[in-house]
Amino acid sequence: MSSSPVVSSPPINIVEELQVITAQNLEKLEVNKYYEVIRELGKGTYGKVDLVIHKMRGTKMALKFLKKKTTKLRSFLREYSISLYLSPCPFIINMFGIAFETDDYYVFAQEYAVAGDLFDIIPPQVGLPEPVAKRCVHQVAIALDYMHYKKLVHRDIKPENVLIFDRECRKVKLSDFGMTRRAGSPVKRVSGTIPYTAPELCGAAEPSEGFCVDPATDVWAFGVLLFCMLTGNFPWEKALPTDAFYEEFARWQRARRSGGPVPSQWRRFTDEALRMFRKLLSLDPQRRCSVKEVFRHFGRRWMLDTEVGIAGGAAAGSGNHQGALSSTSEEDEEDEDLLVDRMKQQTLSPAVCGGSKMGTMETGSPQGHRYAAVAPTGYERVARDNTSGSRILVTTPIEICV
Ligand SMILES: Nc1ncnc2c1ncn2[C@@H]1O[C@H](COP(=O)(O)OP(=O)(O)OP(=O)(O)O)[C@@H](O)[C@H]1O
Ligand SMILES: [Mg+2]
Repeated sequence: MSSSPVVSSPPINIVEELQVITAQNLEKLEVNKYYEVIRELGKGTYGKVDLVIHKMRGTKMALKFLKKKTTKLRSFLREYSISLYLSPCPFIINMFGIAFETDDYYVFAQEYAVAGDLFDIIPPQVGLPEPVAKRCVHQVAIALDYMHYKKLVHRDIKPENVLIFDRECRKVKLSDFGMTRRAGSPVKRVSGTIPYTAPELCGAAEPSEGFCVDPATDVWAFGVLLFCMLTGNFPWEKALPTDAFYEEFARWQRARRSGGPVPSQWRRFTDEALRMFRKLLSLDPQRRCSVKEVFRHFGRRWMLDTEVGIAGGAAAGSGNHQGALSSTSEEDEEDEDLLVDRMKQQTLSPAVCGGSKMGTMETGSPQGHRYAAVAPTGYERVARDNTSGSRILVTTPIEICV
């Protein structure tokens, strides 16, 4: 019997093919001819994301506009192609297969997430109710595991990149693949240090051989995201020894055999949750678990009961936060929205924070418009590229910068 010769052809790299094909078919369009712009959903130095209606079909979509001035065609094609490639996963934002250019922008269309992003529903200093957080984490973990199985590393895991379709997090999807790269590929410079950045990337000096893209950095960011969701705080500002909150945590991690006091910010968690965090946030990337680890811990409680009641008792976004216990949930919800709005405005005009009681500290970020990180208390958005001039506000563990 003769064997077939077809097996000898090399496997097609779908992502690369998608990039080439998209480049060949990239049309110049006038947005207003085909789309009615409803409102802006997000904005940055990269460009913007607009909610639009497709004029012929009446379909709502999110159009992501990347400025030609600052975005190379190659980067646009990569982000679009990776997004399209990953979109069959039910927990990754869907795509319409639409990409085009205008005079000033490269543009692609995504499904519209009606409830915005995860950041907007995490009550600062309180966190989401445990069942809501677990629901969300479950879906994000599947998305991330899917990516890692495909040998892709997201590299920008944070609440702003988790899109939600309802405030109870029954349906959430991972998005923003602008930083995504193939696992193992070399990258020169690490883009900024934010609270989600893994310690191995936080060090000042870049190794002479450069960095290698590693899924373990997503696992670290995922662990930090989990902490943020459950507490409404960041565990630290930066995973560096100079950060007291991080150092306390690192000491506890290193002393795992001999024991030692649980760091103050982590005392609200059950032993089960602490075991999970220890693995997700292992200081050594080689020993860090995979994102799948989280699935083993869902059946057990993560938060200890507290005076304010079990966080799980409150509805997502109901704003049942300390200091507003006597108000109704409707009022709470309004308060929460107000608080988030005020935080947004404040980051736009950081000087407002200057007079607050807590110490503020500036670090770089190019996109002051996006939020900044606040260590174990305050909670603000962080730009993914924090390298040149953005601002991070650090507060004491009780106060928030509003
Ligand atoms: N499909 C969508 N539906 C609803 N809102 C969206 C959608 N896509 C993006 N947004 C909103 O726009 C914000 C920015 O979008 P995205 O994360 O894709 O841009 P970005 O690449 O993060 O920009 P940056 O350079 O600032 O990091 C999101 O955090 C979210 O609030
Ligand atoms: Mg983003």
